Amino acid sequence: MRAPLSRRPVLWATILMAATAWAQQPGSLKQAYQGDFYVGAAMNAAEITGQDQQNDAILLEQFNSISPENALKWAIVNPEPGQYNWGLADQYVAFGVEHHMWIVGHNLVWHNQVPAWVFRDKGGKLLTRAALLARLKEHIFTEVGRYKGKIQSWDVVNEALNEDGTPRQSLWYRIIGPDYIAKAFEYAHEADPQAQLTYNDYNLASAAKLAGVIRLVKELKAEGVPIDCVGMQNHDHLDSPTAGQEDAAIRAIAATGVKVAISELDINILPWPGTGNTADVSIHMASSPKWNPWPHGLPQDVQKKLTEQYAALFGVFYKDRADISRVTFWGVTNAQSWLNDWPIPGRTNYPLLFDREGKPAPAYYAVLQAAGQTAK
Ligand code: G3I
Repeated sequence: MRAPLSRRPVLWATILMAATAWAQQPGSLKQAYQGDFYVGAAMNAAEITGQDQQNDAILLEQFNSISPENALKWAIVNPEPGQYNWGLADQYVAFGVEHHMWIVGHNLVWHNQVPAWVFRDKGGKLLTRAALLARLKEHIFTEVGRYKGKIQSWDVVNEALNEDGTPRQSLWYRIIGPDYIAKAFEYAHEADPQAQLTYNDYNLASAAKLAGVIRLVKELKAEGVPIDCVGMQNHDHLDSPTAGQEDAAIRAIAATGVKVAISELDINILPWPGTGNTADVSIHMASSPKWNPWPHGLPQDVQKKLTEQYAALFGVFYKDRADISRVTFWGVTNAQSWLNDWPIPGRTNYPLLFDREGKPAPAYYAVLQAAGQTAK
């Protein structure tokens, strides 16, 4: 494994020199990884509607793929039976089409941000398997069909596994049974046979969950289910995953015959009382200054660790580029990141490559530097 940057002052100095050089001669993430994989960012409502011009300019300069942070989720698009709100979703897709980007649809089936009515009949009773499958099919046909040929990649099923790799006991699972995953992929494929279809989950570099996702993909492929890709969300931390764990996970997933998307990358630098690389949005904790240590700026030693972790991860992504279709950041600048409010609200976090004013952080230059640094 490569030595950490802290023990390689020469490389740290190289990054700083690259930062200076870049300031004189602008480059971009998408140029640095051209021909390797798409580099994407998740868009929020202000970016989609053009209200956030600063972030839209960064999106156009740096990225060639987009994901919708919330705009295509069931609760936003189809909040009530028969009521579809396409306004934001249409603007999102139009932005990507206009700028020739690789457009991701996120997501079709999830246990979060899905309205309660989806699982119940008019009398409030849980639906039968057949009725819920019919509802799922209608939703997928309507949404995927609307953007057929425009959205190139769909997160079909999101976060269906527990941390130990066993199936999550969601209402999808409990009402339909384990084959709700296969059915969702089949419906999505029928609705747009050209679209790349992805299973998306977090913490996939941990052993038990990785084993679970590999089991799932092998089962789906054995049944002939059209799955093309696994999305590793990578809601990461300064010390986790290690480069070795990330590399092993990418290789193990790719060995099942699917592509890998790094689908929601960010690095949470703030402490919290829990453990692990979870992105479980049901976890909430009260705000306190103790858990918000850097409201006015990141100390240099933490900035350096963040840069080292981004350098290590992109070293792996570049090495494994033949198996990776895209690397998507979960947001554009630190100001809008969901990690300012989860799992503790109102914090000042620094998880992305662009600071609150939209300026590149040192980690940005490390990511540019990582392109072309390692052999496959
Ligand atoms: O739309 C309401 C708005 O009407 C209301 O005024 C406001 C007040 O809080 O809330 C708005 O809803 C918020 C929604 O984002 C849209 O902004 C929800 O409270 C908030 O919980 C929701 O958070 C999103 C979260 O998914 C929900 O599960 C985050 O923005 C989004 O980044 C996050 O993304 C997920 C991926 O989809 C799946 N993987 C994990 C990732 C991070 O949690």
